[in-house]
Amino acid sequence: MCNCKEMEMKFEQLDQIIDKHKAERGALIPVLHEAQEVFGYLPYEVQERIADGLGLSMAKVYGVVTFYSQFSLKQKGRYKINVCMGTACYVKGANDILGKFLGRLKIQVGDCTPDGKFSLDSCRCIGACGLAPVVTINDEVYGRLTPEMVDQIMDEYERKE
Ligand code: FES
Repeated sequence: MCNCKEMEMKFEQLDQIIDKHKAERGALIPVLHEAQEVFGYLPYEVQERIADGLGLSMAKVYGVVTFYSQFSLKQKGRYKINVCMGTACYVKGANDILGKFLGRLKIQVGDCTPDGKFSLDSCRCIGACGLAPVVTINDEVYGRLTPEMVDQIMDEYERKE
């Protein structure tokens, strides 16, 4: 993690978050949520600061971070791609859709592109089985996808920014 000014400011914010919650019972979960809002994910240094600030062991903090799927140990992209691998999507070709993203982004599932633009994850059913196979990119939902449509969607996102 770099030592730039921005990171210092984020750690100052984190200290304020810890101070705000530390007298509460069960402070760990809200602190982790707010810390993830600030950093985008929960790297080792952030977990260590939280453990120190709340007087908890690293094992406890790490255990909670890895238990709940909403917490991430890895950096996420500005565009978070999630390919549904639930049964309905799987039957309708989600594997080919995922393969298309893997080939296009040249990263593994769970990783982020080096420029921080895209991250790729798979997930379980998101409750839109009628649209299978389904992919979400941030809050956008894309349904009845084909590998060709993945190229079109990615072309659009590549042009953004
Ligand atoms: S299985 Fe993909 S939305 Fe339900």
